[in-house]
Amino acid sequence: MCGIVGYVGENQAAPILLDGLYKLEYRGYDSAGIAVYGEDGIKVVKARGRLKVLDEMTHGGEMLPGTMGIGHTRWATHGAPNDTNAHPHFNKDESIVVVHNGIIENYLKLKKKLESKGYEFCSDTDTEVVAHLLDYYYDGNPLTAISKIMHRVEGSYALGILFKDHPGEVYAVRKDSPLIVGRAKGGNLIASDVPAVLKYTRSVYFIDNEEIAKLTRDTITFYNIDEEPLQKTPTEIAWDITAAEKGGYEYFMLKEIYEQPKAIADTLNPRIKDGRIVIEELKMSDDEMRQIRKIFIVACGSAYHTGVTSKYVFEGLARIPVEVDLASEFRYRSPILDEQTLVIIISQSGETADSLAALRLAKSQGVRTLGIVNVVGSSIAREADNVIYTWAGPEIAVATTKAYSTQLIAEYLLALKFAQVRGTVTDEEMEGYIRELKMIPDQVELTLGNKEKIQKFANRYLAAKDIFFIGRGIDYAISMEGSLKLKEISYIHSDAYAAGELKHGTISLIEEGTLVTAVLTQEELYKKTMSNMVEVRSRGAFVMAVTNTGNQEVEKTADFVIYIPQTNKYFTNSLAIIPLQLFGYYVALGRGCDVDKPRNLAKSVTVE
Ligand code: G6P
Repeated sequence: MCGIVGYVGENQAAPILLDGLYKLEYRGYDSAGIAVYGEDGIKVVKARGRLKVLDEMTHGGEMLPGTMGIGHTRWATHGAPNDTNAHPHFNKDESIVVVHNGIIENYLKLKKKLESKGYEFCSDTDTEVVAHLLDYYYDGNPLTAISKIMHRVEGSYALGILFKDHPGEVYAVRKDSPLIVGRAKGGNLIASDVPAVLKYTRSVYFIDNEEIAKLTRDTITFYNIDEEPLQKTPTEIAWDITAAEKGGYEYFMLKEIYEQPKAIADTLNPRIKDGRIVIEELKMSDDEMRQIRKIFIVACGSAYHTGVTSKYVFEGLARIPVEVDLASEFRYRSPILDEQTLVIIISQSGETADSLAALRLAKSQGVRTLGIVNVVGSSIAREADNVIYTWAGPEIAVATTKAYSTQLIAEYLLALKFAQVRGTVTDEEMEGYIRELKMIPDQVELTLGNKEKIQKFANRYLAAKDIFFIGRGIDYAISMEGSLKLKEISYIHSDAYAAGELKHGTISLIEEGTLVTAVLTQEELYKKTMSNMVEVRSRGAFVMAVTNTGNQEVEKTADFVIYIPQTNKYFTNSLAIIPLQLFGYYVALGRGCDVDKPRNLAKSVTVE
């Protein structure tokens, strides 16, 4: 989704804006632009395509002198991705300029009204409405104009704004779209996300909904919608700049795949104390946990897939019924919730629009909520009653790997915590689970050792038309994620099927040479899935299997096998997903795809 940066300080703004936009590339975009306030007023340059185009057009920003400005990467919603629709957008006399992330839902109504007052529009965007509306209300006081438009505009927005009359001031405001402020030496910054400011500062303010920030070189002031000043405390970000850089890897995705052992250990180790699960940030008492009769797990994309796995884990370990929902479905399906329900929202970014709406729906019904979130201070982290952080560090590649793996760990820990409190596992069993959990980081490392074998195999499938994934139980959940990894970055059609469903239609898709990946990590289901492998193989499929060490039997029915170390049946996803991530990565790499920035996708989906 769109990325916003802004700077006011003692240095040239344009190179800082471009640098910040590069750090936000992971959000997905199709055009980019910057506005810089220099001696001749506000100058805007924008261009369709990659940031490189804008970078070259402005000679790395040199062509735009001036020490304050705003920048934007656009992920088109209203209007085609072209130069005109790219942000920033001006008002008529070019005295107000705006960048925007979000969707102005009532823009047509506002546009009509503004047109009737003589305003002319040159783009198809909803954002241009904001520029003209600010112009309409502006009487010399930027704060008043911003506050007035906040009363008129419906939908979600994060805005960066410059006023020609107010040199040396950058304004920012947000509602339901992320925006942060960085306090740096010699200048201050705004951005959609932390990586854009890490080079300059680790001291960051999270702007809350309907708050306005005014930045000058040396000051940052916050206001509410009534223009009253607010006191806010900055958060010190623990990540360092190298965490958001490639560090010698060709793509962030591969770097992040390799960071998994550490990310898992960081998420796991602090929560195991003296042989017990201790989740310090959990504000639920043991009694409250005992009262829970039903859990809803709600999320989007890969986070949803971790939820599908966790249903088996929660139900198996803590004996609590679990429903798993896609957030976009949950929010519109009138779920039956009561005071004995817990709604768990899983989100890497903590800003996914549907997940946030699902959280708010649950809260509005007085239901207890818990977020499993990676980005500290994000909306879901702040609004949920409870939050468990996954300590994956910044994840830049659009296709998630390490955030997914740490979400699984947080969910195992929570399920075990429930089991501990509710007495559904014995102390001895708990000891065993904890021992096995602690082994996961090393076992992931070991599994990564299959890299070359997988790359070689992947290279045989660069021209594949369809690739299918099958499994049962947790293996089906693993298949869903394996299939998503492959299709989102390689653009090869792929689907995951519960292996038992094959015969109900999908087996007709199997042709001579079709690759079918079978996941077999659940011992009690080996034989069942192996029968399905035989069925597809006898119809010409080539079968790759991912299974536990020791299950040599599978070689009789699979053409290519990857073994993962032995672990508890509830935790196998953490190991089995590794070869599937590598497979997807190498197929995409071999096909020459832009692995980190797949077409049409965004890392953080902040619009519905
Ligand atoms: C996008 C990302 C996925 C992610 C999903 C949910 O589609 O590309 O990797 O799983 O959004 O994002 P969240 O930040 O809520 O986990």
